Amino acid sequence: MLRPFALPLGMCWLLAMLVAVPSPLSAQPGQTGISLGSAWYPEQWPESRWDADLELMEKAHMNVVRVGEFAWSTEEPSEGHYDFGWLERAIALAAKHHIAVVLATPTDAPPAWLTSKYPDTLGTDADGHRREHGNRRQFSYSSPQYRSFCREIVAQLARRFGHNPNVIGWQIDNEYTDESFDAATRVQFQQFLRAKYKTLDNLNRHWATAYWSQTYTAWDQIPMESTHGNPGLLLDHKHFVTQMWRSFQQNQIDVLRPLILPTQFITTNIGGLAWSDNWDHYRITEDLSLASWDDYVGQGHLNVARNAMLNDFVRGWKRQNFWIMETEPGSVNWAPVNNALDRGETRALAWQTVGHGADAVLYWQWRSALGGQEQYHGAIVGPDGTPLPIYTEIEQLGKDFAAANPALKGTSPKSDVAMLFTYDSRWAIDFQQHSKLYDQQQVLLDFYSPLESIAQSVDVVEATAPLDSYKLVVAPSLNVIPQALADHLLAYVRAGGHLILGPRSGMKDEYNALNTERQPGPLVPALGGRVEQYYALEGSIPVGDGTALIWAEQLSASNPATTVELRYGKSNGWLDGQPAMLTRALGKGSITYLGTLPDAALMHSLMETAATNAGVHAAFGPVPAEVEVCRRVGRDRVVYIVINHGRSPAHVNFPGRMHDALTNKDLTTVELPAQGVAVLVAEGR
Ligand code: GAL
Repeated sequence: MLRPFALPLGMCWLLAMLVAVPSPLSAQPGQTGISLGSAWYPEQWPESRWDADLELMEKAHMNVVRVGEFAWSTEEPSEGHYDFGWLERAIALAAKHHIAVVLATPTDAPPAWLTSKYPDTLGTDADGHRREHGNRRQFSYSSPQYRSFCREIVAQLARRFGHNPNVIGWQIDNEYTDESFDAATRVQFQQFLRAKYKTLDNLNRHWATAYWSQTYTAWDQIPMESTHGNPGLLLDHKHFVTQMWRSFQQNQIDVLRPLILPTQFITTNIGGLAWSDNWDHYRITEDLSLASWDDYVGQGHLNVARNAMLNDFVRGWKRQNFWIMETEPGSVNWAPVNNALDRGETRALAWQTVGHGADAVLYWQWRSALGGQEQYHGAIVGPDGTPLPIYTEIEQLGKDFAAANPALKGTSPKSDVAMLFTYDSRWAIDFQQHSKLYDQQQVLLDFYSPLESIAQSVDVVEATAPLDSYKLVVAPSLNVIPQALADHLLAYVRAGGHLILGPRSGMKDEYNALNTERQPGPLVPALGGRVEQYYALEGSIPVGDGTALIWAEQLSASNPATTVELRYGKSNGWLDGQPAMLTRALGKGSITYLGTLPDAALMHSLMETAATNAGVHAAFGPVPAEVEVCRRVGRDRVVYIVINHGRSPAHVNFPGRMHDALTNKDLTTVELPAQGVAVLVAEGR
């Protein structure tokens, strides 16, 4: 509940600002508010230049730099000969400018002396081609020899900088990406399977290898496939890749932890625009103190709903605030057309990430290297070392953060609605998409967009996460539902939760085999209904008052307590008049199955009804179409970040009087310019 202020809002705020002493960055992310910074590569520049760079950063209110991630050949110019003096001086100079350091381990880019002397450390692509020096990520993630080199360089760094007060955290490697398909890795895959299945009979049964004479009689017969092959094998390969990256990471955590200050965090910057599916992001981030990711737009402009969802998805990995370890200072170099974001859009993007739980925003990169593969990438200063036009916008953001930090520190998003995700389900569907139109990010977004506009805050979490704090839980395509997950979901429903399952749910068991109950598998009895048949659609078909797209499942109810909420109209004969959505009240809650992807208007009305029934309301209240409201909640205050993503001004009315931390005014309404932002503070909860 918001409560009226005893003092005029502005005065409260003035007091808060006065007592907020400018402090060095805390190692506890978020405790001092939002940090601003960039990736900085001092090893690429003469030392005489560093002070000017840091001076410009400080002037833009930056307070963090990430250094060192590709600096192995500078840190260890020849085997066993280390040179960290330059790094120590760079960190000390940053401290002089009140800029804290995230120190990255350099293991994404092994030096040439290493890979040429020890070629077994090189990785092999899926087509059998052994990688070479000259790019990054050429190593084999499973090579014991490579891991031993990683341990050594990380230990050297940790001994030297693990107690440096200006190092606030560590980033391991950079964007874990490429697995390896060399013979030694395949042996490790076979050992992984042996440890999991114990006997070949067991493996053969779960993978149904009688099909196409795939039965294995020795472990070393098992191939290593990543795209085509037995669905059980493909899923296990994903689990294997996850385990390999996890142990690659743990190899470095084990070295770091005993040698560094307990206050220094350990993270890794996750790439692939958060959506890459090489490995399970929940498992990888489980071992880190903090999740961080690289949020790029690429071609075009900010897709507001998608970027909101992706940031919520990232927040769900550890179910806590996170860092934007890299984002573009206006443009990238790797999209088909590397257009620039409009003036104001870079700032709006940054505020959006903060609204969804980012506690730091770092740009990639400060200044482009004069050579190297990324000469065209966006940067903050030019090749001459003076500010590019984007500098002023980032400087503005620095001022914003400084003004809003007293309000934002210690806050995080809080939602009554959760969407559920598992990598097993994602993989199981993508191995056999059945319709190339079934794009899982888009399906997630189809459900997310109405929910986000209705509730103004949505969590995206792993399906096994605790659910009791949510009023409404929506699982768009939960394809793999083992019994334990079914029990977890049912416990939520019985205790009063409202669960909506989307199409393709409950088709597979944990070995990626078809379950025999039909969909939604172990939840069929609870739903009192099931999927009779699924159909990939060539075009749209009628359903309820709208249309269904891409996918349609013919449902049936078997329990008198199960009601049909939606039916298909006339289409392929099989679906005509058949149920498209079932619901059943169960315990204190309800379970619903929606077997299709309705058009946006129908989806909105279905989600609105579900939200109303579950008691979910907009956190802030109505806002114009292009305005986004994000909410961060603290112990004694609620902060609304209101962003006009439109290209014309928008008028926003507040649900009560609030203090805008950016303009330092008490307001009940605001006229936001195009790309404008307000950070509204209300005391109480
Ligand atoms: C990231 C990577 C950076 C840089 C950047 C360019 O994926 O981590 O090192 O290459 O892309 O957009």
